[in-house]
Amino acid sequence: MSAQRFHIAPGGCLTGRVSVPGDKSMSHRAIMFGALAEGTTTIDGFLESGDCLATLRAFEAMGVAHRLEGRTRVITGAGLRGLGAPTGPLDLGNSGTAMRLLSGVMTGQAFDSVLTGDGSLSRRPMNRVIEPLTRMGAAIAGDAGGRAPLRIAGNQALHAIEYASPVASAQIKSCVLLAGLYAQGTTCVTEPGISRDHTERMLAGFGVAVERAGRRVSLVGGQTLRAAHVTVPADLSSAAFFLVGAAIAPGSDLTLPGVGINPTRRGVIDALIAMGADITLLDERESAGEPVADIRVRGSQLHGIAIDGDLVELAIDECPALFIAAACAKGTTEISGAAELRVKECDRIAVMARGLEALGVDCEETADGLIIRGREDAEAFGAATIASHEDHRIAMAFAMAGLRARGPIVIDDCDYVATSFPGFTALAAEAGLRIQSRELSS
Ligand code: S3P
Repeated sequence: MSAQRFHIAPGGCLTGRVSVPGDKSMSHRAIMFGALAEGTTTIDGFLESGDCLATLRAFEAMGVAHRLEGRTRVITGAGLRGLGAPTGPLDLGNSGTAMRLLSGVMTGQAFDSVLTGDGSLSRRPMNRVIEPLTRMGAAIAGDAGGRAPLRIAGNQALHAIEYASPVASAQIKSCVLLAGLYAQGTTCVTEPGISRDHTERMLAGFGVAVERAGRRVSLVGGQTLRAAHVTVPADLSSAAFFLVGAAIAPGSDLTLPGVGINPTRRGVIDALIAMGADITLLDERESAGEPVADIRVRGSQLHGIAIDGDLVELAIDECPALFIAAACAKGTTEISGAAELRVKECDRIAVMARGLEALGVDCEETADGLIIRGREDAEAFGAATIASHEDHRIAMAFAMAGLRARGPIVIDDCDYVATSFPGFTALAAEAGLRIQSRELSS
């Protein structure tokens, strides 16, 4: 069990202007593509979190030089074929993105590698990348059931494939495309639904020709990545906790500047607006090939909706936060088609259901979602201690429930919040959440 616990006193609202840190998905990719590029890449707004630093350290272990100039991360690219053999396993901590994308990169190397992770990452399914990479000619093996550690043999001749992915997943798509950079021919991925397109956008920014047609994306192997300057926007997935907190707490009026609103990611905004949230997008603009806006949100009475189909895919990481909003909404919110939530950092359907129940919320777990019967009264949640199961997003979602609780909420295992959102407690407190982070012993 980790040592940090959140203690949230009930009530309050969120006001002012708070800047959430950089986008996690883009930060991983900026390091990876910068490392594989020719030349020097500069990254502003890099997310200095546990997950992204695990990616940075993995490339450092393969001889990639980097430095911090002020707040700019500077990466000296090694080129597609310039990585060196690491002296030991590459430890990717808690990060599914790092492990799945890197597995694609490592299959193209001239040396063997082993990818490891923490307990949570070692329970997550890796056959979803082992299978297509094996079809490309990679020699990659996981432990029983296709779990990490992943052992990857170098010096394999990769060939392009046409891959029809059984799941809409940016991690699978990106893994196959990255391996495709090392393969002979044109690698193509087709998906059954929408997944985030940061890889396609950012690879283009690094000078790689990526063809896109609907849910099909392809690239020709052997292309050179050219160093780029990347400005990483604020992470909508981190902003989501504040959007929900401000939406459910009467009297809130909060502005979150410079947040990425990529259309393949913006489901949380659309779901909250459909629930009656008072959200305005201000100064919409483009940054590093990605749409960005300042988001203003004010407290209002929400109502239940169905969250299914494309909307679930567009808001998959924000579902824990949306469940908190649903518990404060008039009527029923039914989330379906969200089975992927069961294979995230924890089983987010089961863990959210247990936590909501502990707070007195009427909810019902289904195979692929949750039915939540919301409460309109000011105190939609009771007081309880919640197990976050070492999942950053579970901890931050339940923290926001404090704004509408009858009594204190305590959340266990909060060290993992730093995997995606270092400084969460201070920022949330600055906005008005009555939160303290304490060591377990105190
Ligand atoms: C991510 C893709 C998504 C998302 C994860 C980050 C990425 O996972 O849930 O937090 O950066 O590519 P899947 O690809 O498994 O859907």
